[in-house]
Amino acid sequence: MEDFFVLVDKDLKKLELAIDKLITTKISFIKEIVSYIIKSGGKRVRPVLVTLSSKLCGYKGEKHIPFAAIIEFIHTATLLHDDVVDNAKTRRGFSTVNTVWGNEPSVLVGDFLYSKSFELMSQEGNPEILKTISRATTSLSEGEILEIIKTADIKTTEEEYFEVIGNKTAVLFSAACEIGAILGKVTTTQRNALKNFGYKLGIAFQLRDDILDYTSYDEVLGKRVGTDLKEKKVTLPLIHALQSASEKETSIVAKILKKQIISQKDFDRVSKFIETHDGIIYTSSATKKYLQDAKKHLNIFPSSRYKEGLLSLADYMLKREK
Ligand code: FPP
Ligand code: MG
Repeated sequence: MEDFFVLVDKDLKKLELAIDKLITTKISFIKEIVSYIIKSGGKRVRPVLVTLSSKLCGYKGEKHIPFAAIIEFIHTATLLHDDVVDNAKTRRGFSTVNTVWGNEPSVLVGDFLYSKSFELMSQEGNPEILKTISRATTSLSEGEILEIIKTADIKTTEEEYFEVIGNKTAVLFSAACEIGAILGKVTTTQRNALKNFGYKLGIAFQLRDDILDYTSYDEVLGKRVGTDLKEKKVTLPLIHALQSASEKETSIVAKILKKQIISQKDFDRVSKFIETHDGIIYTSSATKKYLQDAKKHLNIFPSSRYKEGLLSLADYMLKREK
Protein backbone atom coordinates (compact mmCIF):
# COMPACT_ATOMS: atom_id res chain seq x y z
CA MET A 1 0.00 0.00 0.00
CA GLU A 2 1.19 3.52 -0.75
CA ASP A 3 2.55 5.27 2.37
CA PHE A 4 0.01 8.10 2.27
CA PHE A 5 -2.77 5.51 2.60
CA VAL A 6 -1.07 4.08 5.70
CA LEU A 7 -0.87 7.58 7.18
CA VAL A 8 -4.65 7.99 6.97
CA ASP A 9 -5.57 4.36 7.53
CA LYS A 10 -7.59 5.00 10.71
CA ASP A 11 -9.41 7.92 9.12
CA LEU A 12 -10.27 5.82 6.09
CA LYS A 13 -11.82 3.19 8.36
CA LYS A 14 -13.90 5.93 9.99
CA LEU A 15 -14.80 7.17 6.53
CA GLU A 16 -16.23 3.79 5.51
CA LEU A 17 -18.38 3.76 8.66
CA ALA A 18 -19.51 7.34 7.97
CA ILE A 19 -20.40 6.44 4.38
CA ASP A 20 -22.71 3.67 5.65
CA LYS A 21 -24.21 5.84 8.35
CA LEU A 22 -24.83 8.95 6.26
CA ILE A 23 -26.63 7.27 3.35
CA THR A 24 -30.05 7.12 4.91
CA THR A 25 -33.07 6.28 2.81
CA LYS A 26 -36.18 4.19 3.22
CA ILE A 27 -35.85 2.99 -0.35
CA SER A 28 -33.83 -0.22 -0.39
CA PHE A 29 -33.34 -0.02 -4.17
CA ILE A 30 -31.31 3.18 -3.67
CA LYS A 31 -29.24 1.52 -0.93
CA GLU A 32 -28.56 -1.46 -3.16
CA ILE A 33 -27.23 0.69 -6.00
CA VAL A 34 -25.30 3.08 -3.76
CA SER A 35 -23.51 0.27 -1.97
CA TYR A 36 -22.83 -1.49 -5.29
CA ILE A 37 -20.97 1.53 -6.65
CA ILE A 38 -19.51 2.95 -3.45
CA LYS A 39 -18.16 -0.38 -2.20
CA SER A 40 -16.71 -1.31 -5.57
CA GLY A 41 -13.17 -0.34 -4.64
CA GLY A 42 -12.75 3.34 -5.46
CA LYS A 43 -9.34 4.70 -4.56
CA ARG A 44 -10.77 7.30 -2.10
CA VAL A 45 -8.22 9.81 -3.39
CA ARG A 46 -10.45 12.82 -2.69
CA PRO A 47 -11.19 11.79 0.95
CA VAL A 48 -7.45 11.24 1.46
CA LEU A 49 -6.88 14.79 0.21
CA VAL A 50 -9.45 16.25 2.62
CA THR A 51 -7.87 14.32 5.50
CA LEU A 52 -4.20 15.04 4.75
CA SER A 53 -4.88 18.72 4.01
CA SER A 54 -6.81 19.23 7.24
CA LYS A 55 -4.04 17.57 9.26
CA LEU A 56 -1.36 19.54 7.43
CA CYS A 57 -3.25 22.65 8.55
CA GLY A 58 -3.22 21.50 12.17
CA TYR A 59 -6.88 20.51 12.37
CA LYS A 60 -7.47 18.25 15.37
CA GLY A 61 -11.24 17.64 15.16
CA GLU A 62 -13.33 14.98 13.41
CA LYS A 63 -15.30 17.03 10.88
CA HIS A 64 -12.99 16.04 8.05
CA ILE A 65 -14.69 12.62 8.09
CA PRO A 66 -18.22 13.74 7.10
CA PHE A 67 -16.78 16.22 4.59
CA ALA A 68 -14.57 13.50 3.09
CA ALA A 69 -17.68 11.31 2.81
CA ILE A 70 -19.63 14.15 1.17
CA ILE A 71 -16.86 14.70 -1.39
CA GLU A 72 -16.86 10.97 -2.16
CA PHE A 73 -20.67 11.03 -2.57
CA ILE A 74 -20.44 13.91 -5.03
CA HIS A 75 -17.68 12.15 -6.91
CA THR A 76 -19.80 8.97 -7.03
CA ALA A 77 -22.83 10.96 -8.27
CA THR A 78 -20.75 12.35 -11.13
CA LEU A 79 -19.57 8.84 -12.06
CA LEU A 80 -23.15 7.55 -12.16
CA HIS A 81 -24.01 10.38 -14.54
CA ASP A 82 -20.78 10.19 -16.50
CA ASP A 83 -21.13 6.47 -17.22
CA VAL A 84 -24.52 7.15 -18.80
CA VAL A 85 -23.08 10.04 -20.84
CA ASP A 86 -20.09 7.91 -21.91
CA ASN A 87 -22.15 4.76 -22.42
CA ALA A 88 -19.54 3.01 -20.24
CA LYS A 89 -19.81 -0.74 -19.68
CA THR A 90 -17.38 -1.33 -16.83
CA ARG A 91 -15.91 0.62 -13.92
CA ARG A 92 -13.61 -0.54 -11.13
CA GLY A 93 -13.70 -4.02 -12.63
CA PHE A 94 -17.49 -4.35 -12.39
CA SER A 95 -20.38 -3.75 -14.76
CA THR A 96 -21.54 -0.14 -14.52
CA VAL A 97 -24.84 0.69 -12.82
CA ASN A 98 -26.26 1.71 -16.21
CA THR A 99 -25.40 -1.73 -17.57
CA VAL A 100 -26.89 -3.65 -14.62
CA TRP A 101 -29.98 -1.51 -13.83
CA GLY A 102 -30.27 0.86 -16.82
CA ASN A 103 -29.71 4.55 -17.49
CA GLU A 104 -32.66 5.86 -15.46
CA PRO A 105 -31.60 4.37 -12.09
CA SER A 106 -28.00 5.46 -12.74
CA VAL A 107 -29.01 9.09 -13.33
CA LEU A 108 -31.58 9.19 -10.54
CA VAL A 109 -29.41 7.54 -7.89
CA GLY A 110 -26.74 10.04 -8.95
CA ASP A 111 -29.30 12.78 -8.25
CA PHE A 112 -30.04 11.20 -4.88
CA LEU A 113 -26.36 11.15 -3.88
CA TYR A 114 -25.90 14.69 -5.07
CA SER A 115 -28.93 15.97 -3.14
CA LYS A 116 -27.99 13.96 -0.06
CA SER A 117 -24.56 15.61 -0.13
CA PHE A 118 -26.13 19.06 0.02
CA GLU A 119 -28.57 18.00 2.72
CA LEU A 120 -25.65 16.73 4.83
CA MET A 121 -23.62 19.85 4.15
CA SER A 122 -26.46 22.12 5.24
CA GLN A 123 -26.56 20.19 8.53
CA GLU A 124 -22.84 20.80 9.06
CA GLY A 125 -23.38 24.57 9.03
CA ASN A 126 -20.05 25.61 7.54
CA PRO A 127 -20.88 28.28 4.92
CA GLU A 128 -17.29 28.54 3.62
CA ILE A 129 -17.16 24.84 2.85
CA LEU A 130 -20.67 24.93 1.40
CA LYS A 131 -19.58 27.76 -0.92
CA THR A 132 -16.44 25.89 -1.98
CA ILE A 133 -18.29 22.67 -2.78
CA SER A 134 -21.19 24.44 -4.53
CA ARG A 135 -18.78 26.26 -6.83
CA ALA A 136 -16.94 23.03 -7.55
CA THR A 137 -20.10 21.13 -8.53
CA THR A 138 -21.13 23.95 -10.88
CA SER A 139 -17.72 23.66 -12.57
CA LEU A 140 -18.06 19.88 -12.82
CA SER A 141 -21.24 20.28 -14.82
CA GLU A 142 -19.70 23.01 -16.96
CA GLY A 143 -16.67 20.81 -17.67
CA GLU A 144 -18.78 17.85 -18.68
CA ILE A 145 -20.93 20.05 -20.95
CA LEU A 146 -17.88 21.69 -22.54
CA GLU A 147 -16.60 18.19 -23.20
CA ILE A 148 -19.72 17.15 -25.11
CA ILE A 149 -19.60 20.37 -27.13
CA LYS A 150 -16.06 19.44 -28.18
CA THR A 151 -16.99 15.85 -29.09
CA ALA A 152 -15.35 14.68 -32.35
CA ASP A 153 -13.84 18.13 -32.93
CA ILE A 154 -10.34 17.58 -34.30
CA LYS A 155 -9.71 21.30 -34.03
CA THR A 156 -9.94 21.15 -30.22
CA THR A 157 -7.02 23.16 -28.86
CA GLU A 158 -4.84 22.33 -25.85
CA GLU A 159 -6.30 25.36 -24.13
CA GLU A 160 -9.85 24.07 -24.62
CA TYR A 161 -8.84 20.60 -23.43
CA PHE A 162 -7.29 22.01 -20.24
CA GLU A 163 -10.44 24.03 -19.65
CA VAL A 164 -12.50 20.83 -19.85
CA ILE A 165 -10.34 18.78 -17.50
CA GLY A 166 -9.80 21.72 -15.17
CA ASN A 167 -13.54 21.96 -14.69
CA LYS A 168 -14.57 18.32 -14.80
CA THR A 169 -11.77 16.93 -12.59
CA ALA A 170 -9.33 19.42 -11.10
CA VAL A 171 -11.84 21.63 -9.29
CA LEU A 172 -13.05 18.78 -7.08
CA PHE A 173 -9.46 17.88 -6.12
CA SER A 174 -8.90 21.55 -5.42
CA ALA A 175 -12.06 21.79 -3.29
CA ALA A 176 -11.03 18.67 -1.33
CA CYS A 177 -7.74 20.35 -0.37
CA GLU A 178 -9.40 23.69 0.33
CA ILE A 179 -11.85 22.05 2.77
CA GLY A 180 -8.83 20.85 4.78
CA ALA A 181 -7.49 24.40 4.84
CA ILE A 182 -10.87 25.82 5.91
CA LEU A 183 -11.13 23.29 8.74
CA GLY A 184 -7.59 24.13 9.85
CA LYS A 185 -8.41 27.88 9.81
CA VAL A 186 -5.10 28.73 8.13
CA THR A 187 -4.12 32.01 6.44
CA THR A 188 -5.48 32.96 3.00
CA THR A 189 -2.02 32.36 1.53
CA GLN A 190 -1.91 28.82 2.90
CA ARG A 191 -5.48 28.16 1.83
CA ASN A 192 -4.71 29.33 -1.72
CA ALA A 193 -1.56 27.22 -1.78
CA LEU A 194 -3.56 24.08 -0.98
CA LYS A 195 -6.26 25.06 -3.44
CA ASN A 196 -3.65 25.41 -6.21
CA PHE A 197 -1.89 22.22 -5.16
CA GLY A 198 -5.19 20.32 -5.47
CA TYR A 199 -6.02 21.88 -8.82
CA LYS A 200 -2.71 20.92 -10.42
CA LEU A 201 -2.85 17.47 -8.86
CA GLY A 202 -6.32 17.04 -10.39
CA ILE A 203 -5.06 18.05 -13.82
CA ALA A 204 -2.26 15.48 -13.49
CA PHE A 205 -4.80 12.85 -12.40
CA GLN A 206 -6.89 13.42 -15.52
CA LEU A 207 -3.84 13.52 -17.81
CA ARG A 208 -2.84 10.11 -16.45
CA ASP A 209 -6.44 8.93 -16.96
CA ASP A 210 -6.31 10.03 -20.58
CA ILE A 211 -2.96 8.30 -21.12
CA LEU A 212 -4.20 5.03 -19.60
CA ASP A 213 -7.27 5.15 -21.82
CA TYR A 214 -4.87 4.54 -24.75
CA THR A 215 -2.14 2.45 -23.16
CA SER A 216 -3.63 0.19 -20.49
CA TYR A 217 -5.55 -3.10 -20.50
CA ASP A 218 -9.20 -3.60 -19.51
CA GLU A 219 -8.31 -6.02 -16.69
CA VAL A 220 -5.75 -3.65 -15.17
CA LEU A 221 -7.75 -0.48 -15.59
CA GLY A 222 -11.07 -1.97 -14.45
CA LYS A 223 -12.79 -0.11 -17.29
CA ARG A 224 -12.66 -0.42 -21.05
CA VAL A 225 -9.54 0.92 -22.69
CA GLY A 226 -10.30 3.05 -25.74
CA THR A 227 -13.55 4.51 -24.37
CA ASP A 228 -12.39 8.08 -25.01
CA LEU A 229 -11.87 7.49 -28.73
CA LYS A 230 -15.02 5.38 -29.02
CA GLU A 231 -16.97 8.22 -27.43
CA LYS A 232 -15.10 10.65 -29.75
CA LYS A 233 -13.39 12.54 -26.96
CA VAL A 234 -10.39 14.39 -28.28
CA THR A 235 -7.88 14.21 -25.43
CA LEU A 236 -4.31 15.53 -25.14
CA PRO A 237 -2.48 12.51 -26.66
CA LEU A 238 -4.58 12.93 -29.82
CA ILE A 239 -4.51 16.75 -29.79
CA HIS A 240 -0.72 16.69 -29.66
CA ALA A 241 -0.41 14.08 -32.41
CA LEU A 242 -2.71 16.10 -34.66
CA GLN A 243 -0.45 19.16 -34.28
CA SER A 244 2.33 17.50 -36.28
CA ALA A 245 0.19 15.29 -38.50
CA SER A 246 0.27 15.35 -42.30
CA GLU A 247 -2.86 16.34 -44.20
CA LYS A 248 -3.45 12.70 -45.07
CA GLU A 249 -3.17 11.56 -41.45
CA THR A 250 -5.49 14.34 -40.28
CA SER A 251 -8.11 13.36 -42.81
CA ILE A 252 -7.93 9.70 -41.73
CA VAL A 253 -8.50 10.69 -38.07
CA ALA A 254 -11.30 13.06 -39.10
CA LYS A 255 -12.98 10.25 -41.06
CA ILE A 256 -12.75 7.88 -38.07
CA LEU A 257 -14.29 10.49 -35.77
CA LYS A 258 -17.20 10.90 -38.20
CA LYS A 259 -18.05 7.19 -38.09
CA GLN A 260 -21.12 6.11 -36.20
CA ILE A 261 -19.26 3.24 -34.56
CA ILE A 262 -15.51 3.31 -34.00
CA SER A 263 -14.08 -0.21 -34.32
CA GLN A 264 -11.13 -1.86 -32.59
CA LYS A 265 -9.24 -1.55 -35.88
CA ASP A 266 -9.87 2.22 -35.89
CA PHE A 267 -8.67 2.42 -32.29
CA ASP A 268 -5.47 0.52 -33.17
CA ARG A 269 -4.89 2.87 -36.07
CA VAL A 270 -5.34 6.01 -33.98
CA SER A 271 -3.17 4.56 -31.17
CA LYS A 272 -0.38 3.93 -33.68
CA PHE A 273 -0.77 7.45 -35.04
CA ILE A 274 -0.51 8.88 -31.52
CA GLU A 275 2.59 6.80 -30.86
CA THR A 276 4.28 7.97 -34.07
CA HIS A 277 3.67 11.58 -33.09
CA ASP A 278 4.75 11.18 -29.43
CA GLY A 279 1.28 11.93 -28.06
CA ILE A 280 1.79 9.76 -24.98
CA ILE A 281 5.33 11.03 -24.27
CA TYR A 282 4.08 14.61 -24.55
CA THR A 283 1.14 13.96 -22.21
CA SER A 284 3.43 12.22 -19.71
CA SER A 285 5.77 15.19 -19.61
CA ALA A 286 2.81 17.53 -19.14
CA THR A 287 1.74 15.32 -16.19
CA LYS A 288 5.23 15.60 -14.67
CA LYS A 289 5.24 19.35 -15.12
CA TYR A 290 1.87 19.77 -13.40
CA LEU A 291 3.00 17.59 -10.51
CA GLN A 292 6.24 19.53 -10.07
CA ASP A 293 4.28 22.78 -10.05
CA ALA A 294 1.72 21.31 -7.66
CA LYS A 295 4.40 20.27 -5.17
CA LYS A 296 5.96 23.75 -5.17
CA HIS A 297 2.76 25.16 -3.65
CA LEU A 298 3.46 23.13 -0.51
CA ASN A 299 6.85 24.81 0.05
CA ILE A 300 5.26 27.37 2.37
CA PHE A 301 4.24 24.65 4.84
CA PRO A 302 6.71 23.41 7.45
CA SER A 303 7.86 19.78 7.16
CA SER A 304 5.50 17.21 8.59
CA ARG A 305 4.45 13.66 7.85
CA TYR A 306 1.22 15.04 6.35
CA LYS A 307 3.18 17.21 3.94
CA GLU A 308 5.23 14.13 3.02
CA GLY A 309 1.95 12.28 2.53
CA LEU A 310 0.64 14.87 0.09
CA LEU A 311 3.93 14.89 -1.79
CA SER A 312 3.91 11.12 -2.13
CA LEU A 313 0.27 11.25 -3.22
CA ALA A 314 1.47 13.57 -5.99
CA ASP A 315 4.13 11.03 -7.04
CA TYR A 316 1.50 8.30 -7.08
CA MET A 317 -0.44 10.24 -9.76
CA LEU A 318 2.37 9.60 -12.18
CA LYS A 319 2.69 5.90 -11.41
CA ARG A 320 -0.89 4.84 -10.97
CA GLU A 321 -2.06 2.07 -13.27
CA LYS A 322 -5.77 2.31 -12.47
C1 FPP B 1 -15.11 11.34 -15.52
O1 FPP B 1 -14.35 11.66 -16.62
C2 FPP B 1 -16.11 12.41 -15.21
C3 FPP B 1 -15.90 13.48 -14.43
C4 FPP B 1 -14.61 13.69 -13.77
C5 FPP B 1 -16.94 14.53 -14.18
C6 FPP B 1 -18.34 14.12 -14.41
C7 FPP B 1 -19.31 15.26 -14.20
C8 FPP B 1 -20.63 15.23 -14.49
C9 FPP B 1 -21.28 14.01 -15.02
C10 FPP B 1 -21.49 16.44 -14.32
C11 FPP B 1 -21.82 16.84 -12.93
C12 FPP B 1 -22.66 15.92 -12.18
C13 FPP B 1 -23.09 16.20 -10.90
C14 FPP B 1 -23.84 15.17 -10.15
C15 FPP B 1 -22.79 17.50 -10.25
P1 FPP B 1 -13.90 10.55 -17.67
O2 FPP B 1 -15.07 10.08 -18.44
O3 FPP B 1 -12.76 11.09 -18.42
O4 FPP B 1 -13.35 9.40 -16.71
P2 FPP B 1 -13.69 7.87 -16.70
O5 FPP B 1 -12.79 7.27 -17.73
O6 FPP B 1 -13.33 7.39 -15.32
O7 FPP B 1 -15.13 7.71 -17.01
MG1 MG C 1 -16.30 8.46 -18.40
